[in-house]
Amino acid sequence: MTLVPILEVRDISIRFGGVQALKNISLALFPGEVLALAGDNGAGKSTLIKIISGVYRAQEGELFFDGKPLSMQDPQDARSKGIETIYQDLALADNLDVGGNIFLGREPMRRKLGLPVIDRERMRKVAREVLDRLDIVIPDRKLAGPVQMLSGGQRQAIAIGRAIYWNARVLIMDEPTAALGVPEQRKVMELIQTLKAQGVAVLLISHNLHDIFAVADRIFVLRRGEAAGERLTRDTHGEEIVRLMVGSEYAAQTV
Ligand SMILES: Nc1ncnc2c1ncn2[C@@H]1O[C@H](COP(=O)(O)OP(=O)(O)OP(=O)(O)O)[C@@H](O)[C@H]1O
Ligand SMILES: [Mg+2]
Repeated sequence: MTLVPILEVRDISIRFGGVQALKNISLALFPGEVLALAGDNGAGKSTLIKIISGVYRAQEGELFFDGKPLSMQDPQDARSKGIETIYQDLALADNLDVGGNIFLGREPMRRKLGLPVIDRERMRKVAREVLDRLDIVIPDRKLAGPVQMLSGGQRQAIAIGRAIYWNARVLIMDEPTAALGVPEQRKVMELIQTLKAQGVAVLLISHNLHDIFAVADRIFVLRRGEAAGERLTRDTHGEEIVRLMVGSEYAAQTV
């Protein structure tokens, strides 16, 4: 692990009208690390990743990418830097095939009779290569059909494949396994390990403590928009994380 974080959030605050969604949040994410973002409903997890992925702009605080100040106008800016975000439901364009989804908005072109046309053959070839690289099995006839025919886990895997193909350096996943069956959840967890081994930094939002403990190196807990604590996964346990999530006053009552 290098000493320069690939991504750093420093003293970020944001309000929506009367709601202080985040207050003075600072965190660092290193290459090849999986950082879990935990917290109860409404704690500010999605808001934080929307700031990191260029959807919202914080009212206070700064972002750094690879040690340099990062300012973004929109999510396209984040993507061009190698910050890819995957949402469970908004991950793919349902009516396109796998290749179409991998190249969405960035289609390769070739010349036919002197005119530029989309290079579909190359898209299919890359789709197959990306899936092979991630060990995802999808038969050819399904590869060429719309991705709405695929399972939730396969779709999630394609979104991850797309991020890898475009050389993501930071991959943000908001509840990637929430709607998946058990084998598919396992596959996504495996893919996260693969990315980590390739040096990608992963920021994982999950309500599932089992998933968090299975893949995360560190856990950052938000509570009502504030930093409630940060632990190395090997130095903590589920009970402590729950206590940080809900506050000791509540946890004390339930023990
Ligand atoms: N666009 C918005 N406008 C107004 N308030 C918002 C907006 N987005 C989030 N909030 C508020 O900010 C707070 C944090 O919301 P956020 O969606 O970040 O929580 P979360 O930790 O992702 O929760 P969940 O686990 O339920 O997804 C909540 O009080 C929410 O109501
Ligand atoms: Mg959320």
